[in-house]
Amino acid sequence: MTDKATLGYDRETYEMPIVEGSYGERAVDIRSLRKDTGLITLDSGFMNTGATKSAITYINGEEGILLYRGYPIEQLAEASTFVETSYLLIYGELPTPAQIKEFSTLLTYHSMLHEDMRHFFDGFPSSAHPMAVLSSMVSALAAYYPDSIEPDTHNEHHIARVLSKVRTVAAFSFQKRQGRPVAYPRNELKYCANFLHMMFSHPAEPTYNPDPELVKALNVLLILHADHEQNCSTSTVRLVGSSRANLYAAISAGISALWGPLHGGANQAVIDMLQEIRDEGGDPKAFMEQVKNRERRLMGFGHRVYKNFDPRATILKKYADHLLQYLHIEDELFDIARELEQVALSDDYFIERKLYPNVDFYSGVLYRAMGIPTDMFTVLFTLGRIPGWIAHWKEMMEAPDLKIGRPRQIYEGPTSRDYVPIDQR
Ligand code: ACO
Repeated sequence: MTDKATLGYDRETYEMPIVEGSYGERAVDIRSLRKDTGLITLDSGFMNTGATKSAITYINGEEGILLYRGYPIEQLAEASTFVETSYLLIYGELPTPAQIKEFSTLLTYHSMLHEDMRHFFDGFPSSAHPMAVLSSMVSALAAYYPDSIEPDTHNEHHIARVLSKVRTVAAFSFQKRQGRPVAYPRNELKYCANFLHMMFSHPAEPTYNPDPELVKALNVLLILHADHEQNCSTSTVRLVGSSRANLYAAISAGISALWGPLHGGANQAVIDMLQEIRDEGGDPKAFMEQVKNRERRLMGFGHRVYKNFDPRATILKKYADHLLQYLHIEDELFDIARELEQVALSDDYFIERKLYPNVDFYSGVLYRAMGIPTDMFTVLFTLGRIPGWIAHWKEMMEAPDLKIGRPRQIYEGPTSRDYVPIDQR
């Protein structure tokens, strides 16, 4: 195969190098296109645009492969913890026992919020969506840690602080909405257990200790969400970070991007959809006919990259089965979800369009089983995605060719008009 692509334009020929990735994926390097030809490329939704080279996550959408730093997601979900996977994503290697101890200590050290920040939660209406609270609070963290404003990718305190404090903000916002006092972190608990403690402890049950099965399920959920290369929110974090804005600002922007129902907000939309189907009489087949007639959208199905199956959904379905059995929960929404999947997998409409369950299809069922309310689902997704965002921010900031992100456009508006003062119009 040739290592150059040729473009013929305006009676000239231009050659552009081909760049090859670790698994042989190939791209045309157009970095000098505009300089050489005056042309730009137009690619709405960035369906064909590689924004960067990256060594963090590999996805093969056709074969349903997802690797973090080369390790298969199935192995990490089975045997790793969220903290270890976070270290792997951010620093590139699995930690040694000494490194994980140091990293965990840093996370513990940075788990508290400045006490003044606690009062911020009182200022939000009780009806506020927790994602609005989370993005605002994360942005506000920069006000309390001015030493983080100048980006420093080598300062492990800055990195641990973000990872640890977002968890505390998420749990505090939940407690405040429940009308309960916040539960401060406990140093003896590990990351996921500590989060469950901060979410569910209250004064009437001061000895609450998270069930190890729930802790394991949360570890798996967060690992599965920890990174997914150049998706909408990660690209947002990179774009904001490329201006050298501080890490909190970049992460806060990522949270806003993740909130949308076509992205991380889909897990909440899935449960809303399953509830609607149940309330309308629980007929998945009738619902699917409406989807095919384009009257409804099957939330939790389809993916820009996975066109065969989403390996995260396969793992989550197994865990949902296991956890519901363990907790003796019979969830009719899970039954409807299973039926929808069955219908979709045998229907030409979905087969032809390569529509399969994505990570959001079963995660909501798991969150429900864990006692997490629907509008907190995307907050949980956020918590999982923080290490991925940090890893991409760090990789980008350390790249020798870092440039501020700045796409171009094709202008279609009016041309050369003369201004007419208002009294003459
Ligand atoms: N339900 C019904 N039809 C669908 C769905 C769906 N969930 N997803 C795609 N299609 C159809 C489209 O109508 C289109 O059909 P057509 O070719 O006849 O017009 C075809 O499949 C291709 O769909 P696109 O929208 O072009 O696919 P795209 O890659 O742009 O969108 C997306 C991917 C946004 C995820 C889409 O599948 C979707 O909206 N899914 C539901 C929302 C969801 O679950 N989002 C979470 C994604 S995972 C994540 O972000 C963590």
